[in-house]
Amino acid sequence: MTFRRIVFFVLQILIIPSVFAEKTPAPTDEKLVLFVQQRTNAVKITQSPFEMGQFVVARCVGPSPEEVHTAEKEKTFGISDPHLKKFVHVYVSHDGQAAMRTDSGVFPQGAIVLKEKFSDPEGKHTELFTGMIKREAGYNPECGDWEFFTLPGDASQISSRGKLQDCMDCHVEYKKSDYVTKNYAHISFYPKPTGQ
Ligand code: HEC
Repeated sequence: MTFRRIVFFVLQILIIPSVFAEKTPAPTDEKLVLFVQQRTNAVKITQSPFEMGQFVVARCVGPSPEEVHTAEKEKTFGISDPHLKKFVHVYVSHDGQAAMRTDSGVFPQGAIVLKEKFSDPEGKHTELFTGMIKREAGYNPECGDWEFFTLPGDASQISSRGKLQDCMDCHVEYKKSDYVTKNYAHISFYPKPTGQ
């Protein structure tokens, strides 16, 4: 009896998670919103708010008219004006931590990477969230099976999600590191997106 129990237990450990790993559905909008609202439970990768590059500020944006307007303004005036500088914190779900901390690790299905964008260097005024979810194999072969999403700064709802072409345009350049830039980790050898 004890032996059977042990076998059953071992089978549970070995088989059940791998079955679930294959079939884990994408998080619902509600779950994703909750993840963002409770991001302090995830792993914070940036020690202090990281200053975004100008080429990213203008394009790593959400789809709302205000966001597009702000981005256009920044494109026109550049960020020599300190009020237009942007800063980010980056979080990763616990299952993605190992991949995040290596140069080339591939993230496991279900991992979420979240970028919180601030208008101030202290990281007090959140403007926008952009994120990536590692989906099942075959979901988005062009870009590492990542799904992209955005939320407004108050994290109240998902503004867009899916295989968002705008996001992929830049992130495909980071194939070496599973399409995650890791710029803020000061790994300088990843290429910048072309044309910048
Ligand atoms: C202009 C190129 C560009 C575009 C377009 C872009 N990103 Fe990024 N993204 C970056 C860069 C560069 C970083 C590194 C952090 C920084 O400088 O802001 C980054 C960081 C991120 C991160 C943190 C993980 C990582 O890759 O390091 C997430 C999540 C993210 N972007 C999601 C998105 C989403 C969602 C979109 C579409 C709405 C998007 N990005 C569009 C260039 C881009």
